[in-house]
Amino acid sequence: MECSSIKHPFIFLFFCLVFLSPLVCSQLYYNFYDTTCPSLTRIVRSNVLSAMANETRIAASLLRLHFHDCFVNGCDGSVLLDDTSTLKGEKNARPNQNSIRGFEVIDKIKSALEVACPSTVSCADILALAAREAVNFSRGPFWSVPLGRRDGTTASESEANNLPSPFES
Ligand SMILES: *[C@@H]1O[C@H](CO)[C@@H](O)[C@H](O)[C@H]1NC(C)=O
Ligand SMILES: *[C@@H]1O[C@H](CO)[C@@H](O)[C@H](O)[C@H]1NC(C)=O
Repeated sequence: MECSSIKHPFIFLFFCLVFLSPLVCSQLYYNFYDTTCPSLTRIVRSNVLSAMANETRIAASLLRLHFHDCFVNGCDGSVLLDDTSTLKGEKNARPNQNSIRGFEVIDKIKSALEVACPSTVSCADILALAAREAVNFSRGPFWSVPLGRRDGTTASESEANNLPSPFES
């Protein structure tokens, strides 16, 4: 069965949960939150806009945050995880330490979304949308973001250390 042949996410999810492997189920959809969190785009846009009104540079920071998240084992929000006694996060990897920023903006969006639609939108999707809006508001290109990413529960400092340096050819 072709995932892309099924247009309705809920029907797909049903098939997916009942018959198929979890691997097949991690399909992304442009309309993933259309019914569960219709205010998603508006909330992301207004928060990114006010962060940029405060400081234009935050637009670049949000794009970089998304890239640094995705480069390490995919776009799973792992860059947001703090160190704990059992987990070494990515925030203190060499390419990130004292340079990665924008966490407050993501936290603010997440808090607003927890009021509007609790326990619905993943942090990985927030990172992806915030980067898109930051670029859009900076008069960069616009791209459609398929949604439904799941947040990772692990991080990899060693892989974050492999992020390309600004001195690559
Ligand atoms: C505004 O930007 C500054 C950095 O230039 C930052 O320290 C501050 O937290 C930001 N304030 C808000 C409300 O986003
Ligand atoms: C942002 O994207 C929208 C399409 O949704 C487009 O109409 C608008 O012109 C874009 N804004 C900028 C500043 O590029």
